[in-house]
Amino acid sequence: MLNFILNQHRVQTDERPGLVLLDFIRDVKGLPGTKEACREGECGACTVLVGALRNGVLTYKACASCLLPLGDVDGCHVVTVEGLNDDDRLSLAQQLMVDHSASQCGFCTPGIVLSLTAFGLTSPDYSYADALDALDGNLCRCTGYVAIRNAARTLCDRLAGLDRDPQKRVASLIAAGVLPDYFAGIPQQLAQLPHPAPAPFSPSAVLVAGGTDLFVQKPEALLESDLCFLSKRDDLNYVRLDGRLLRVGGAVTLEEFRRHPEVKKHFPSMEKDLLLHSSTILRNKATLTGNIANASPIGDASILLLALDAKLVLAGPDGARREVPLDKFYRGYKQCDLTCGELIGEILLPLLPPGTRFNFEKVSNRVILDIAAVNTALRLITDPQGRILDLRLAAGGVAPIPLLIGGMERFRGKPVDEATAKAVAQTAADAVKPIDDVRGSAAYKKQLLHQLVLAHFAAAAAPGAAR
Ligand SMILES: Cc1cc2nc3c(=O)[nH]c(=O)nc-3n(C[C@H](O)[C@H](O)[C@H](O)COP(=O)(O)OP(=O)(O)OC[C@H]3O[C@@H](n4cnc5c(N)ncnc54)[C@H](O)[C@@H]3O)c2cc1C
Ligand code: FES
Ligand code: FES
Repeated sequence: MLNFILNQHRVQTDERPGLVLLDFIRDVKGLPGTKEACREGECGACTVLVGALRNGVLTYKACASCLLPLGDVDGCHVVTVEGLNDDDRLSLAQQLMVDHSASQCGFCTPGIVLSLTAFGLTSPDYSYADALDALDGNLCRCTGYVAIRNAARTLCDRLAGLDRDPQKRVASLIAAGVLPDYFAGIPQQLAQLPHPAPAPFSPSAVLVAGGTDLFVQKPEALLESDLCFLSKRDDLNYVRLDGRLLRVGGAVTLEEFRRHPEVKKHFPSMEKDLLLHSSTILRNKATLTGNIANASPIGDASILLLALDAKLVLAGPDGARREVPLDKFYRGYKQCDLTCGELIGEILLPLLPPGTRFNFEKVSNRVILDIAAVNTALRLITDPQGRILDLRLAAGGVAPIPLLIGGMERFRGKPVDEATAKAVAQTAADAVKPIDDVRGSAAYKKQLLHQLVLAHFAAAAAPGAAR
């Protein structure tokens, strides 16, 4: 039996945990405001808010309900567009969409309103840039984005100066007309829901992390499967510093990682680099470990972490743990070193030594919400004279696996200059064997990698690039 709150109402259901939330909202509950379009996380029409109590604080995020299994929202507060009004008044985000003529056919509008509301609930600074990032997963086919952006800009102006303390934010947003009054009682209602201990991971169950890959690949099969939800494993949800190592729990989402203060401090480029991964409504659920374990040769997180020399801590069903360097984890196309019942419990990231430059490049058809033709990351450590001590170059889309490119030892002792950049670029292009596919020909991808390595060196040479 699953228990959660949908808008103002308590829900108890014995629907299957693999049913996607979108189908439950529309078909079982008859709430048509949440729209169905792509069912693949691409359009944002199905965006809802999911709130959960964590350490006594209620935090919300916007999610694509078409890829979100019902079992994942057990114990949570789910908010659809119908839940933003408890009387005839429009919420502030809705009113601003009207005031700025930001809706035409209206199909995308509920999703946009929910993403703007999530921005109110989560933004650290209510900046306009952050509001635009919050909308990066919401497509509109007819209004045009100028009017929507104008609504977002006015929302930023109206929220400026509001109390952003996580404990007080909901109350401030109720006072500002962003949320209806009933939100004030949600923490108590959530605390009263049953909180069963997460089921231990059984080797016969399908492990669901964010589900953003699984529920695109095989939603029908998952409806019938025994599922184990990583999001319920609070013990795997942490980012913490341990000497010169950052420990990242296996359940941490891409967005939690991107915004975490220790990540911002020690890996500052991640905040912008990971914006190139999917969109906010997906990053709010998608995990680093899901990106690693699906073994996609163009996984963005895999490429970033390979260049950063990450190690994985794998946990077996009997509690046994073993460490595997990420560059030894991939065995072949979509194959990795995971035995039956094992999961990635933790990622270990060594901090960047002084004199490190780090850069990520990705080329895709669209800047946002697209997977790469080629992606690549470079970690370059130099001595005080600017000579190379260590160079790690990772690339995706150029091999059956996310690849750490070999042969880079020969550049130790070389200066970071144009001649070295050209030699590294040629070595990288010679080392890879891409294939022709819909993302580009093999020759194009080789050339692309060559050019992206030059871009790495241009970024590395920029003033202030070294940490
Ligand atoms: C619209 C859209 C856009 C996308 N854009 C990008 C993009 O720009 N870049 C990119 O790299 N990817 C992209 N993806 C792919 C996907 O979102 C990512 O790969 C994501 O990081 C997968 O993580 P997840 O937690 O959702 O994985 P899930 O779907 O939950 O799981 C994926 C696989 O990993 C396994 N798994 C998950 N966690 C663990 C663990 N801890 N231990 C062992 N096995 C585990 C699962 O059992 C499953 O087999 C996109 C997907 C969509 C739908
Ligand atoms: S229906 Fe398009 S993102 Fe869910
Ligand atoms: S108003 Fe028609 S899709 Fe946005």
